[in-house]
Amino acid sequence: MEEVANLAFRCGGNRVVRLDAPRDEAAVQAVFERCAAFNIVVEGRPPGPGAAREFFESAPGGWRAADVEKLGVYDRDGRLIGLIESVAGYPEPGVTHLGLLMLEPDAQGSGLGADLYRAYESWAASHGAERIRLGVVADNEAGHRFWNRMGFTETSRTEPLAMGEKIQTIRVMERDISASGAGAPPRAPGRASDR
Ligand SMILES: CC(C)(COP(=O)(O)OP(=O)(O)OC[C@H]1O[C@@H](n2cnc3c(N)ncnc32)[C@H](O)[C@@H]1OP(=O)(O)O)[C@@H](O)C(=O)NCCC(=O)NCCS
Repeated sequence: MEEVANLAFRCGGNRVVRLDAPRDEAAVQAVFERCAAFNIVVEGRPPGPGAAREFFESAPGGWRAADVEKLGVYDRDGRLIGLIESVAGYPEPGVTHLGLLMLEPDAQGSGLGADLYRAYESWAASHGAERIRLGVVADNEAGHRFWNRMGFTETSRTEPLAMGEKIQTIRVMERDISASGAGAPPRAPGRASDR
């Protein structure tokens, strides 16, 4: 199976697999459309018809899209339910930039995101990451709560930036995973979904 050949890591019964354009473009576009509420928080509008193409083509300044991991989260039934974008060595060696972690609404709120982040972090650490870095738009309060719970702290804020219909400040957050034991982000006590 092609997906297995491209496997990055597993999380419970879910598989996280390297995506490929144009093969996976329609499936990725469908995920963006199911995640319209998130796009509205970020850009003030639903995703456009080119959302998947932009995902595959996006890369931080000076990087080639080919050097950015575009990963898909497949559930145990083989359905694409989420996306991850990861850039090892950006913006400097030892740092891995988590450009996107997005689960479709039916997959949210049951602890999968937390499990997935922990699995992602172990995978990134095994590829040399000492710190994970990400940006959260100021309007994404739930996202900010989530990253706080995962052990991230804010390191800086950008100037206001035009993002679609909105002007957003981005909170840059980081988590140091180099110290011994830091590979296991905090777990909320007693949560049934912690696997
Ligand atoms: C951010 C995201 C990846 C988190 O994944 P998730 O699976 O929803 O995360 P969790 O389930 O661990 O936590 C989400 C909420 O569900 C709650 N929750 C988790 N497990 C639960 C359970 N078993 N029962 C009830 N509630 C639970 C959490 O307390 C949390 O509540 P909060 O919103 O009040 O903080 C996901 O919500 C998502 O993709 N959102 C849209 C995209 C996005 O914002 N990405 C981050 C951009 S920087």
